[in-house]
Amino acid sequence: MKHLIGLLLNLAAITATVLGSRHDMLSLSPSDYELVRYTNDSLLVQCRSTTTESQLVWRSPKGEIIKEHKGRIHIEQSAPDQLTIVFTHISLGDKGKWRCEDANGDRAEKYFELIVYQKIAFTENFTILTVKEGKDAFIRCEVKGEPQPNVTWYYNGQPIIVESFTGNTTKFQILADGLQVRKVTQNDTGEYTCRAYQVNTIASDMQERTILMKIEHKPIWRYSQHIPVQYVYPNGSVTIACEAIAEPPANFTWYKNGNKKRLHNDKHHAIEKDYYASTLTIHARNDDVFDTYRCLAENQLGAIERNTVLKRGVKPPPPSVLQLRGFNSNTFDVDVGSVRVSPARTAPSTTEQLMEVNGFRIEYMTEYEFKSDGGKWTNAKRRDFPFEDGATFLINNLEANTTYLMRAATKNLAGLSDYTKVEKFHTLSNEPKSASARLEHLTATQLLCISLVALLLCKELSFGFQPVSSITKLQRAAGVRW
Ligand SMILES: *[C@@H]1O[C@H](CO)[C@@H](O)[C@H](O)[C@H]1NC(C)=O
Ligand SMILES: *[C@@H]1O[C@H](CO)[C@@H](O)[C@H](O)[C@H]1NC(C)=O
Ligand SMILES: *[C@@H]1O[C@H](CO)[C@@H](O)[C@H](O)[C@H]1NC(C)=O
Ligand SMILES: *[C@@H]1O[C@H](CO)[C@@H](O)[C@H](O)[C@H]1NC(C)=O
Ligand SMILES: *[C@@H]1O[C@H](CO)[C@@H](O)[C@H](O)[C@H]1NC(C)=O
Ligand SMILES: *[C@@H]1O[C@H](CO)[C@@H](O)[C@H](O)[C@H]1NC(C)=O
Ligand SMILES: *[C@@H]1O[C@H](CO)[C@@H](O)[C@H](O)[C@H]1NC(C)=O
Ligand SMILES: *[C@@H]1O[C@H](CO)[C@@H](O)[C@H](O)[C@H]1NC(C)=O
Repeated sequence: MKHLIGLLLNLAAITATVLGSRHDMLSLSPSDYELVRYTNDSLLVQCRSTTTESQLVWRSPKGEIIKEHKGRIHIEQSAPDQLTIVFTHISLGDKGKWRCEDANGDRAEKYFELIVYQKIAFTENFTILTVKEGKDAFIRCEVKGEPQPNVTWYYNGQPIIVESFTGNTTKFQILADGLQVRKVTQNDTGEYTCRAYQVNTIASDMQERTILMKIEHKPIWRYSQHIPVQYVYPNGSVTIACEAIAEPPANFTWYKNGNKKRLHNDKHHAIEKDYYASTLTIHARNDDVFDTYRCLAENQLGAIERNTVLKRGVKPPPPSVLQLRGFNSNTFDVDVGSVRVSPARTAPSTTEQLMEVNGFRIEYMTEYEFKSDGGKWTNAKRRDFPFEDGATFLINNLEANTTYLMRAATKNLAGLSDYTKVEKFHTLSNEPKSASARLEHLTATQLLCISLVALLLCKELSFGFQPVSSITKLQRAAGVRW
């Protein structure tokens, strides 16, 4: 039986050889006419002949016979009737028709077409570009890929629209390898994204690259408003701020006009600097501090400066009270006696008016934090409120059923007052009240209601009266609760 099948198969093969075209004497594996690969992929194609006396060769698209037995493209012969072509990593130039031929007899051949795609790749990788104000900028973004990717540009996430004509008035011009930005201003600072799309027969891809463009410019004040006069009271301290945007960031220097000397950190002055700002804190230890202070902001492209006059002020009195007007599980309503003391402001002196309380500072922390910080207030939470006649202030996001320590100070133009003495307050727990607790606080009306056994009505009334009972309870405890 086995023999018979073998014989039949042999017969079939012979018949095929005789009847089929010379083409069919060769077969490729994989057998696809078109093979699509990305660059750097590897590929093996085996060519097999039906006759053992064949003499197989592989030809490149240019017609050259591949003879190498090692290297990026080479051949491997495993049997006389088998020849494999190996691409260890495909390159773009490998695209085209690769043929397997039988050099024997009448040159049977079989080919496959290699299609090579290249994934999107950016030539550059820089992420920051610095351009001087007024110059044209060119943001390079060269994109490689096969098929050639389409590129679109975005500025801070918004598509950049370019008129199709290449007029001289257009701000942006998209070129093959980048984006041209004409006459850059500080307003052109931002993130430019070069986004490449690629669609081919087997996949689609998108890649992007973002470049931060910084425009070099001389310092400019960050806020147009400047406080030309500041106040400090003796033994108090005051901070003068100087904020200027510049690229590259400015160097800040401080001078005191009285002696024209540059100020440094010492026991009277503390200078701190940030990227775009510097602050000078002055401790008013003596009368010499009442003077004019000059801040100079300078970079390679220019310098700007301005003066602040420091005048003598009056220390504000501490808050008259510190108590709760109400509280719940996460909020304190704090009363710091925010009322104008002078009833009718009948011609108060201008300094008095100037030195009126204009705000409050409330500091607080949990009893636990107080203990773990060794009784220091440096890490306390701090809230500042502007003065509002008759107002109380809400401190929220508190933890339930927790004891807080709190202190307060007033503020005026010259600084902070002393703090009040520290008070302890406790938040409510947010656990729902038990049924027995409810009963305990039923009002007379509700009790009457129950005694009248108007069950349905009573239910409604009980809801209606619940807040009243809470208020009565709380008034006893600490204050009014809402
Ligand atoms: C492909 O191979 C080349 C050479 O080995 C290498 O420079 C390149 O980074 C590779 N490309 C990818 C996408 O891996
Ligand atoms: C950018 O490419 C260069 C070489 O072309 C390389 O030395 C550098 O590390 C790359 N930088 C980043 C951020 O990839
Ligand atoms: C890419 O651009 C070409 C011509 O500019 C256009 O025909 C094609 O549809 C674009 N492809 C994509 C994916 O946007
Ligand atoms: C732009 O070009 C037009 C002519 O093409 C010219 O009349 C105009 O002055 C140019 N504008 C600027 C800002 O250069
Ligand atoms: C930059 O933008 C601001 C606000 O949009 C504008 O007032 C200013 O004139 C612009 N500056 C330049 C140089 O275009
Ligand atoms: C300032 O503080 C010093 C020492 O702490 C004290 O002797 C002086 O009286 C204070 N001056 C004022 C005006 O409070
Ligand atoms: C800013 O300060 C740095 C370091 O002190 C110095 O090297 C630099 O030259 C200064 N730049 C300008 C514009 O003064
Ligand atoms: C409130 O806190 C105290 C002490 O931390 C605790 O004993 C008590 O059970 C808490 N009450 C509620 C209702 O969580």
